[in-house]
Amino acid sequence: MRLAVFFTPAGVTPAALANKPVLVLDLLRFTTTIITALANGARAVLPAATPSDALGLAQNLERADLLLAGERNALPIEGFALGNSPLEMTPERVGGKTLVMATTNGTPALLAAEDARPVLIGAAVNFSAAAAAARLALEDAGELAILCAGRQGLFALEDAYAAGRFAQAILPGGARRGAELNDAAIAARDLVRRYGARWKTAVVASAAARDLRAKGFRADILAATEADVYDVVPTLEQRQVRVRERG
Ligand code: MLT
Repeated sequence: MRLAVFFTPAGVTPAALANKPVLVLDLLRFTTTIITALANGARAVLPAATPSDALGLAQNLERADLLLAGERNALPIEGFALGNSPLEMTPERVGGKTLVMATTNGTPALLAAEDARPVLIGAAVNFSAAAAAARLALEDAGELAILCAGRQGLFALEDAYAAGRFAQAILPGGARRGAELNDAAIAARDLVRRYGARWKTAVVASAAARDLRAKGFRADILAATEADVYDVVPTLEQRQVRVRERG
């Protein structure tokens, strides 16, 4: 079995992931936010690479249930109904809606994995459910990639720590023997030794958390460190993120 971690999508070609299982992580905040939205009744999330792509997509679809959402530099985009905060994704606001979203790092990372199968979406908030789904995918395919969104093409501590937590949960103790881990997977597991089992310790130490705190999003950071709030595992298929059992 092969487990590979990628700290950023930079250098990951679509062909390298094509038809292989991938778990995509962007704890602060994109994957946390869309898991929350879908758990709270959103029908689907359509990722767009940029705000103008999101506008174009929404115009082409011309549906009444669409909401534009996302961020630039962590701040809501002018004219978009929602930002990128998990706290905004309440049943009242997103129930029955389809979100067209553009974020700085999260949506491009997800689109980089669009040829993979399955494309699982993970974060702390759905940790156990996503780890179980990823383990099944690994057993099925004999390999799994964990793709971190990172920040501006660079390493992001919160995602790398999360990759380590997932790697440990997917290949615990004995199961790890005989498995082939790439260097980033080994380093990600070492980060868990460094920060321990509390999500908050690693996540609040990250540059992304410092930036979000400075912009007034402290509550979002705390929301992103709460484990197992939801048991849904959204997947990306044909450019739509959905919770499969809801159809
Ligand atoms: C991103 O996709 O870059 C992020 O989720 C940034 C954020 O809004 O915190």
